[in-house]
Amino acid sequence: MIIIGYESSCDETGVAVVCTERGLIAHALHSQIAMHQEYGGVVPELASRDHIRRVLPLTKQVLAEAGMALSDVDAVAFTAGPGLAGALLVGASVARSIAWALDLPAIPIHHLEGHLLSPLLDTPAPEFPFVALLVSGGHTQIMRVDGVGQYELLGETLDDAAGEAFDKSAKLMGLGYPGGPALSKMAQSGTPGAIVLPRPMKHSKDLDFSFSGLKTAVLTKLRALQAEQGTVSQQSLADLAAGTEAAIVDVLATKAIRALKQTGLKRLVVAGGVGANIPLREHLLSEASALGAKVFFPPIELCTDNGAMIAFAAALRARAGLLPVQLKNPSFTVRPRWDLHEIS
Ligand code: KG4
Ligand code: ZN
Repeated sequence: MIIIGYESSCDETGVAVVCTERGLIAHALHSQIAMHQEYGGVVPELASRDHIRRVLPLTKQVLAEAGMALSDVDAVAFTAGPGLAGALLVGASVARSIAWALDLPAIPIHHLEGHLLSPLLDTPAPEFPFVALLVSGGHTQIMRVDGVGQYELLGETLDDAAGEAFDKSAKLMGLGYPGGPALSKMAQSGTPGAIVLPRPMKHSKDLDFSFSGLKTAVLTKLRALQAEQGTVSQQSLADLAAGTEAAIVDVLATKAIRALKQTGLKRLVVAGGVGANIPLREHLLSEASALGAKVFFPPIELCTDNGAMIAFAAALRARAGLLPVQLKNPSFTVRPRWDLHEIS
């Protein structure tokens, strides 16, 4: 079965073709980062308009790369939520229209399920059950995954997401948008341990997180440096970036390892944009191996939003016989707010 998948929940337009037997065949992506950079963050209306401009050329591109035509496609998957309402509606409308015109099933996919299952795109793929650390711009969750559609929430952030902590701290430091990669790059020239920031909830016995205090700690430190130096030196900024990254990575890794210990599972899957963070990867790999556990990441280019994970999640659902009923219903909606544990 050939599935074409659409991702348009935020600032990336992604289209991909996946075969339920052969896996990923082709994918194409347009990032809106350059467009939003000028505003210091995502402007929802501009995001929606840009998705409209990109979605059909990307469809043509991905089909050409796959050596296929729309007539070869058996189903159309799309991100139905969570995300920006207008942006989601673009992908949903296009996917539903193609499906309606060609009399194909249209498969709504939860964006986080796409992230969660994306490490299975790599080889070797992790076997179920596993612990998943889902770390994106909007979500930070630890899940127990027993199979496709079998997700148990073990812990989550009580306020800001890890990606948000990266983004907000980077903004305070004048590093622009998106903050995660910029802050991480800056941190490379910082001196480890020169600035130590608090690790909120690191020692709480649960698997929850809290990152909103971190930006206040960054702001306080920044003000102290300004008072001391006038214009803060590049070295101090790099030290602050290193301290911020170390604090986020430390808390994420501690809780992910605690989840492995609490569940007794030996496989950890890391997904979502923050999964591209190299120190986080290194920390998790070394701490998990000390426990005799293995860590799985999606390929770096598929950590952030993309169409491949959406088409692939639909393919896994199709293989597991878990497609929703009424796949040819012409009326549809999107869900800007949607908890992953609500789906099955
Ligand atoms: O999964 P994603 O592309 O979008 C959402 O679903 O939110 O994640 C985007 C988030 C942003 O907060 C971005 O700053 C962060 O992932 N991110 C990183 C890195 N690359 C992306 N954070 C830290 N280090 C990175 N290398
Ligand atoms: Zn995402």
